[in-house]
Amino acid sequence: MERRMIETTFTEEDKGIEGSLRPQKLDDYIGQKKIRDSIAISIEAAKQRGEPLDHVLLYGPPGLGKTTLSGIIANEMGVNIRVTSGPAIEKPGEMAAILNGLKEGDVLFIDEIHRLNKQVEEVLYPAMEDFAIDILIGKGAAAKSIRLELPKFTLIGATTRAGLLSAPLRDRFGLIHRLEYYTNEELETILLHSAKVLEVELEKKGAAEMAKRSRGTPRLANRMLRRVRDYAQVCYDGVITEQVAKTALDIMDVDKMGLDRSDRNFLLALIEKFGGGPAGLDTLAASIGEDAGTIEDVLEPYLLQHGLINRTPRGRVATPAAYRHLGLDVPEGAGA
Ligand SMILES: Nc1ncnc2c1ncn2[C@@H]1O[C@H](COP(=O)(O)OP(=O)(O)OP(=O)(O)O)[C@@H](O)[C@H]1O
Ligand SMILES: [Mg+2]
Repeated sequence: MERRMIETTFTEEDKGIEGSLRPQKLDDYIGQKKIRDSIAISIEAAKQRGEPLDHVLLYGPPGLGKTTLSGIIANEMGVNIRVTSGPAIEKPGEMAAILNGLKEGDVLFIDEIHRLNKQVEEVLYPAMEDFAIDILIGKGAAAKSIRLELPKFTLIGATTRAGLLSAPLRDRFGLIHRLEYYTNEELETILLHSAKVLEVELEKKGAAEMAKRSRGTPRLANRMLRRVRDYAQVCYDGVITEQVAKTALDIMDVDKMGLDRSDRNFLLALIEKFGGGPAGLDTLAASIGEDAGTIEDVLEPYLLQHGLINRTPRGRVATPAAYRHLGLDVPEGAGA
C-alpha cells in the first residue's frame, strides 16, 4: 500500500515535531479524562506511601498518546525513565542487565511489549512480582540458580495489540488502561495548542475542520497541521482559516470523515463488486489488489469504529452510512 497521509503509525515526518509538541505534565495532557484522573490518584497515593507506582499497561491504537503518557508518569513521579521496546531485547540476559541497571523508583518503559519473546518475558515475571531475578550459574548438573534483588521500579508497558499479550504478563500489571480515540473538541484543543508552539496562525474554525478529519488521533492532527501550514504559507498569507484547511485537505485527498482514497476504494469495491456484502476478507482484498492483513489492521478499524462497515460471520458488509458517505442511494436492507 502506498504511504498514506492518514497513517496513524509513527513516520519519519513526525520526528521533527513530536518532541516539541509532547506534553510534559498530566494537566497538559488533553482528553482521556478517566485515565488521567485515575493515574493522578495512583501517583498521589504512591507518593504518599513513598513507594514506586504500580506497574502500568497502556494499550490502544497508534498515535493516541501511550508513549507521551509514560513520559508524563515518570515526570510526575519525579523519577528517571529508561526506554526500550519488545523487539529490541532479544536475550534473557539483556533483559536482566536492563533491570539490574535501574535505580530505586525508576520507570522502565517497554514499547510494543507484545513483541517480547517468551524467554525474555519470563525474566520479567519475578522482576515485576518480587523485584528479583533468578540467574542460572554454571552448566548441566552443577548449574544452580541464584536470586538477585532488584531496586523497586515501575514497569510501563505499551501495546497496540493487547490481545497478543500473554495472560501471565497481563496479570502482573496493577493498572491497565485503554486509550480511546479523541473527540473533535479535544483534537481542536490539541491543534490550537500545537499551533501556538509552532507559531502557526490557526483560526478556531480551521482547527475544527482539521480535527474532524484527524481520525480521533493526535499524531495525525499534528501532522496535518504541519502540512496545512506549508500549504497556507505557499498559497495564502500563512493563516489557516476554515477555507484554507478545507482546500488543503481536499487536495491531500483526505475527506470530511478523514477517509482517503484507499478507504473509499475499499468501500466502493464492497458496494459495487459485492452488492454491499457480505464479502470475505480475502476475496475483497484480492479484488482491490491489497493485502488482507493490511486491510484488517490499517483500513478496517476506523471504518468499523465509525459505523461504515460491519463484520458479520459471513463477511464484511457496507452500512447505510457508507452508501451515504459516498453519495450513493441506500438500497433496501443495506448493512444487514
Ligand atoms: N493527550 C494528548 N494531548 C496532547 N497531545 C497528545 C496527546 N496524546 C498524544 N499527543 C500528541 O500525539 C503524538 C503521538 O503520541 P504518542 O507518540 O504518545 O502515541 P503512541 O500511543 O505512543 O503511539 P504508538 O502506538 O505509535 O507508539 C505526541 O507526540 C503528542 O504530540
Ligand atoms: Mg509510542
